[in-house]
Amino acid sequence: MCEASPSSEGSTTSRGAMPRIGDSAPDWTAPTTHGALTFSEWQGDSWAILFSHPADFTPVCSTELTEFGRRADEFAQKNTKLIGVSIDSIHSHLAWVQNLGEILNCRLPYPLIADHDRTVAELYGMIHPGEATTVTVRALFIIDPKKKIRAIIYYPLNVGRNVEEVMRTLTALQTADGNGVACPVNWVPGEKVIVPPPKTMEEVDQRLASDYEKLDFYLCKKDL
Ligand code: BEZ
Repeated sequence: MCEASPSSEGSTTSRGAMPRIGDSAPDWTAPTTHGALTFSEWQGDSWAILFSHPADFTPVCSTELTEFGRRADEFAQKNTKLIGVSIDSIHSHLAWVQNLGEILNCRLPYPLIADHDRTVAELYGMIHPGEATTVTVRALFIIDPKKKIRAIIYYPLNVGRNVEEVMRTLTALQTADGNGVACPVNWVPGEKVIVPPPKTMEEVDQRLASDYEKLDFYLCKKDL
């Protein structure tokens, strides 16, 4: 059997600690439904979304993972790879992937990590003992091509995630990075973005003379 093993290179998070936004994404090597993978090598120059589910052959997880599967091409168009993880065996994953293809008409196109020894779950703080000691909660990490954690979403066992919100968060991060802006409440692509606040009086004067939508000197919006 291929055991998972942590790799500390480039990581600022130790086993058992909860990684935070801005941390380097912990690296690992583990068996997956696409063969043994080392995370950093598999990710390459792409964005990555690493997400845990509590257990194979469970109903909410089945709806979530197939929805990620149906939208995998959209994520790929945003240069983003998906990878799932749970504390299940590779045999369980292989059987479940086939079953999901039969009952929900979606054969998962992305790898599932068989994290039987909890290496990935512990590196990413995916086990929340107050919720469950034997399974991972619904944790999701958006990781940029520099291998930095850029967003973290945690959901409990009994509530499925919103894949549209994951897509929106990824798009907002990429839009913010690409344009030096921020994204306001409920932002969706096509809407105005926030211009970063000025840091000097000269920038304040430039701001006041601009054609931005000016609600105040520190709150300006513009079209992209
Ligand atoms: C589910 O995916 O349906 C589920 C998994 C673990 C606990 C509760 C629900």
